[in-house]
Amino acid sequence: MAEAILSATDLVKHYPIRGGVLRRTVGQVKAVDGVSFELYKGETLGIVGESGCGKSTLGRLLMRLEEPTSGSLIFDGVDVYKQRGRAMRKLRRDIQIVFQDPYTSLNPRKTVGDIIGEPFDIHPDVVPKQGRRRKVQELLELVGLSPEHINRYPHQFSGGQRQRIGIARGIALNPKVLICDEPVSALDVSVQAQVVNLMEKLQDELGLSYVFIAHDLSVVRHISDRVGVMYLGKMAEIGDEDEVYSRPTHPYTQALLSAVPVPDPTLRNKREQIVLQGDVPSPANPPSGCRFHTRCFKAQEKCKVDVPELILRPDGAGEHFSACHFAAPREIIETIDVSGAATPAGGWAAAEQV
Ligand SMILES: Nc1ncnc2c1ncn2[C@@H]1O[C@H](COP(=O)(O)OP(=O)(O)OP(=O)(O)O)[C@@H](O)[C@H]1O
Ligand code: SF4
Ligand SMILES: [Mg+2]
Repeated sequence: MAEAILSATDLVKHYPIRGGVLRRTVGQVKAVDGVSFELYKGETLGIVGESGCGKSTLGRLLMRLEEPTSGSLIFDGVDVYKQRGRAMRKLRRDIQIVFQDPYTSLNPRKTVGDIIGEPFDIHPDVVPKQGRRRKVQELLELVGLSPEHINRYPHQFSGGQRQRIGIARGIALNPKVLICDEPVSALDVSVQAQVVNLMEKLQDELGLSYVFIAHDLSVVRHISDRVGVMYLGKMAEIGDEDEVYSRPTHPYTQALLSAVPVPDPTLRNKREQIVLQGDVPSPANPPSGCRFHTRCFKAQEKCKVDVPELILRPDGAGEHFSACHFAAPREIIETIDVSGAATPAGGWAAAEQV
C-alpha cells in the first residue's frame, strides 16, 4: 500500500463577491468546493480541467498560500492549517511551488544567483551564508544550466531556461512536495518535453512527489502516475493514469478525451467526438445536483437533484473513483501513447488543449 505524503480532505475555498456602494458580500465564487485526494510518496498526481475550474486555487491551498474556507490538509502526519510561526515556516520548506509563466515569475532586476538563493534568505539555516554561492551553482548544474551563468539576469535566458531557473528555486530548500502549476504551458512544444524530462529526472534523483497541474491532457498523461479531473471546483474522476485515460467512466472525462485529435487517419472516423454544449457555468452559481448536468450528454432528472459522490465505481476492468450516478466505461480510441517516449512523436501537437 502506497504511503500518502499529502492528504486533502474536503478542501473548500470560496471568494467573496462584493457589490454595491457599501462593498457588502453579495455572493461567493466557489473556486474549490470540497476536494479530497491523497498524494503518495514519490508519485506524480496530474490535475486537469478547463480554465477556471479551480486548479490554481487548489495549488495555492496545498501550499497554504491561501487559507481555506474549510477542510483539512495533512502533510507527513502534520495538520498544515493548524501550524503557526516556526512550525509553519519549517513546513513551508517541504512544500514548494513552480509557476506557469517563466517570464513574469522571475524578478527581472535580480541575478539568477539572487533568485535561486532567495529561499535561503527566508530559511538561513538550510545553507550557511558562505556556502550559498556554491549551492546555487550546484542547483544550476542540477537543472542543466551552466554554473557560470550565476550573475546573469532572467532576460538573458530563453523561456525553457527560465523555467529551469524556476525549478531550481523550487527545489533549493530540498522540499518533499513540488506543486507545479502549468509549469510548461507557456513553452514551445519541443521545449516542453525537455523541461518535463528534467522534472522526471529530478523526481527520481531527489525522491520528490509532484502535483502537476495543466490543461494539456497529453503532457499530464506523460508525466503522471495518477490523474484527477476537475470540473467547477470539484473532482469528477480520479485514478491511475491508465484508468482515467483508457477506461474513463465520467462523461466529462470522456468528452475531454474525445476532443483529443487522433493522429492515425485510419482511426479517425472510428471515434465519435462528444461535443460539450455551452460554456462552463459560473462558479458563483454552480448548477444543482451534479454540476456537470447542464452540459452532460447522459444527464437525467436525478442528476439535477442529487450530488454524485466521488466513490469507487466499476470501469470495465476494475474500479476507480468517479463522481457520476451513471458512471460507465465508454470506448476511447487512443491517440499516440506518449507515456514511454523521451520526446513526443510529432511533438505533443496532439497537445490538445482542454
Ligand atoms: N483571488 C481571487 N478572488 C476571487 N476569485 C478568484 C480568485 N482567484 C481565483 N478566483 C476565481 O476562482 C475560479 C477558479 O480560478 P483558478 O485560477 O483556480 O482556475 P484555474 O483552473 O487555475 O484556471 P486556469 O486554467 O485559467 O489557470 C475562477 O472563477 C476565478 O475567477
Ligand atoms: S451524474 Fe448525471 S449529469 Fe453528472 S456526469 Fe453523471 S450522468 Fe452526467
Ligand atoms: Mg490556473
